[in-house]
Amino acid sequence: MTIKLGKIRLKVFNCIIFLLVVILIIYLAITIFFMLPNFNSEYNYEIKKSNYNIKVKTKFKHAWFNCHVKEIYDVNASDKSIKQKLLIDLKDEGFKSKGKYLYRKYTYSGLCRDDINTYKKEHNSVIFNLNGKDNVTLNFKEEYNEPYVTLKINGNSSKNINVNSDFNENKIGTYIVSYNANISKYYTEKLYRKVKIIDNEKPEIILNGDDVEIEYGKNYIEPGYKATDNYDGDITKKVVIKNTVNNKKAGMYKVTYSVKDSSGNKFSIIRNVKVREKSSEVNKEQPNIEVKDGITYVNGILIVNKTYGLPKDYDPKVNGKALSALKQMQADAKAISLNLPLVSGYRSYTTQENLYNKYVKKDGEEVANTYSAKPGYSEHQTGLAFDVGSVERSFAKTDEAKWLEKNAYLYGFIIRYPKDKTNITGYIYEPWHIRYLGKENAKKVYESGLTLEEYLGIQ
Ligand code: DAL
Ligand code: ZN
Repeated sequence: MTIKLGKIRLKVFNCIIFLLVVILIIYLAITIFFMLPNFNSEYNYEIKKSNYNIKVKTKFKHAWFNCHVKEIYDVNASDKSIKQKLLIDLKDEGFKSKGKYLYRKYTYSGLCRDDINTYKKEHNSVIFNLNGKDNVTLNFKEEYNEPYVTLKINGNSSKNINVNSDFNENKIGTYIVSYNANISKYYTEKLYRKVKIIDNEKPEIILNGDDVEIEYGKNYIEPGYKATDNYDGDITKKVVIKNTVNNKKAGMYKVTYSVKDSSGNKFSIIRNVKVREKSSEVNKEQPNIEVKDGITYVNGILIVNKTYGLPKDYDPKVNGKALSALKQMQADAKAISLNLPLVSGYRSYTTQENLYNKYVKKDGEEVANTYSAKPGYSEHQTGLAFDVGSVERSFAKTDEAKWLEKNAYLYGFIIRYPKDKTNITGYIYEPWHIRYLGKENAKKVYESGLTLEEYLGIQ
């Protein structure tokens, strides 16, 4: 069939064939253009924040109708903990590490050219900044008003921000507050603020009672104290006492109490102690000595020494009250890492006899008598005496011995054979040998600074 259009004569069939061929060629051209990896582009920019920056290299590659995006991040931060948090957040967003860089790949279906423009526009449209400082230091319990952040997208304010933090106002420490603005599927802007809570307040020590005056030769008895801290609470156990009191020399002395809280804040306070002049007057009441069943009591206190002995058949075993006082004392010492194991407790007449004979054999009677009681004359037979810690002479220098000397009376014990009192007790210094008197009497004897013989006025 032929169409006549003036002078032009076209064969309709040929026209249709021709058009189909043209359409086919265009179709094939477009297909080949978008199917082949024929497009590469790179966009470099930097994300700059107050406490970190990221140098970004974004590579776009078109292939098979898709735009393949690869982002390579070079992360730097002014602070290690901020960098750590930033890296964690980026990994949550699909970034992986490679050497010192992070990278992420994703694919858009569509034209790469359009995606690059969208990408650039998006990244240039956002203003996201911290209000206030990026590094905040607060004192414990100080009020804190979070200054928050400013987010503007294309000049418009937005509040579409997630805030995350493990911030705990009741605990000193360093916290990172993070703010995330989700701009699009693959684009989250991030900000970080470091908030540090510190305690710079000193602890406090309150002393019981005022300054102290003691008689010449009498022991100083600690009236007590309490230490508290705004953060740690009761820190009385941390108090360190320096006591310079010499009760054998009249004068003014200081007892210094110092304490340090867990943040290193220190506090000290002093108590003045006066040791009075030695008084010449001796005002000794006559002791009341009673003997019952062969056992001697002086002013109601059972006494055993080189003068006063015990019947051979006196066999009371360990005293219950003395034993529980010992256990309490051992437990309290243990709590401050001091070990006071029981080395020797109740000893029968026979046990003492064997022991004494052994020592006589070893050192001769004269020497043995300086450290061992003859059978029937040992306090161990009363069930009221214990040897604790160690019976080596070196024990005297240990923290255990020093603590025992100062604290035994609080549990009802006295150091029965004190230092430099051999002429009175007849025995060498035995820092380990304690005698139970009950709390009231032990305190009186300790405070007097005397041996039990001197205190009672006996031989
Ligand atoms: N060591 C003391 C004096 C005793 O043998 O009882
Ligand atoms: Zn002993």
